[in-house]
Amino acid sequence: MRHLLDTTDLSLAEIDEMIELALDIIENPKKYAHICDGKKLATLFFEPSTRTRLSFEAAMMELGGNVLGFSEAASSSASKGESVEDTVRMVSCYADIIAMRHPLEGAPRVASAKALVPIINAGDGGHAHPTQTLTDLLTIYREKGTFDNITVGLCGDLKFGRTVHSLIKAMSRYSGVKFVLISPKELSVPEYIKTDVLDPSGADYIEVETMDAVMPELDILYMTRIQRERFFSEEEYLKHKDAFILDTDKLQNAKKTLTIMHPLPRVNEITTAVDDDPRAKYFVQALNGKYIRMALIITLLKWGELL
Ligand code: CP
Repeated sequence: MRHLLDTTDLSLAEIDEMIELALDIIENPKKYAHICDGKKLATLFFEPSTRTRLSFEAAMMELGGNVLGFSEAASSSASKGESVEDTVRMVSCYADIIAMRHPLEGAPRVASAKALVPIINAGDGGHAHPTQTLTDLLTIYREKGTFDNITVGLCGDLKFGRTVHSLIKAMSRYSGVKFVLISPKELSVPEYIKTDVLDPSGADYIEVETMDAVMPELDILYMTRIQRERFFSEEEYLKHKDAFILDTDKLQNAKKTLTIMHPLPRVNEITTAVDDDPRAKYFVQALNGKYIRMALIITLLKWGELL
């Protein structure tokens, strides 16, 4: 049984195959409209979500399957004290595949030890969000046609932003990728991302505290929200909440070919005027999330000989 708990669970060849499959789904949706007939996806969301949960559910429906699940811990027996292991063991009896979001880092890994069906990590605390990364990779591939020799600016809350950690793990495996890490010192990427991911990969990276000077270098600008829910105090959050706001003025010095991404939701970090800039791809990125999740569901069910 294969699960998707972190981006590195997939080889580069497997990521390529999943992207190829997503591209084929985009081109030929009818070919896949009944591939999951009779199959069920459970979405177990112990933490709030709009895009991830609903795109997973739309993905399964467009494959002909059905969905069940809960969108908050309070409406599940977790509120009565049931463990993640027992919850997943139960849901394994009702569904063929499970997408799970949890505020505790490592909860999907714990769940996978007891699961009888594939588990997909749909975000665990500040740790990882591998299906967002697959979404981001599909978006980058559709925009740039390659993952090599790209300069990626990551801006905002790089400490708590799990999408950033997963994307660095994925992109650092390609050649010639340079990372420009833009954050206040207090919200810089965790040390383990540098020592265990960036340094061994040999990827070039710099850390800066402002975006203006580096803007002309960037091929991708990946904005992120300051993760209010992960701060220990409101005071600390308020100190950083508007640390970076991308507006049309800041884009004056950017490349014409820049791709502006954001995992969403946004709060203040991109002004709505930027939405009209043809380089803004964050809503397309959210749509890509549905297609890559369709590809992921098919792939994991096939690997588990459930399809
Ligand atoms: N990008 C993302 O994970 O969005 P949601 O929190 O709405 O699922």
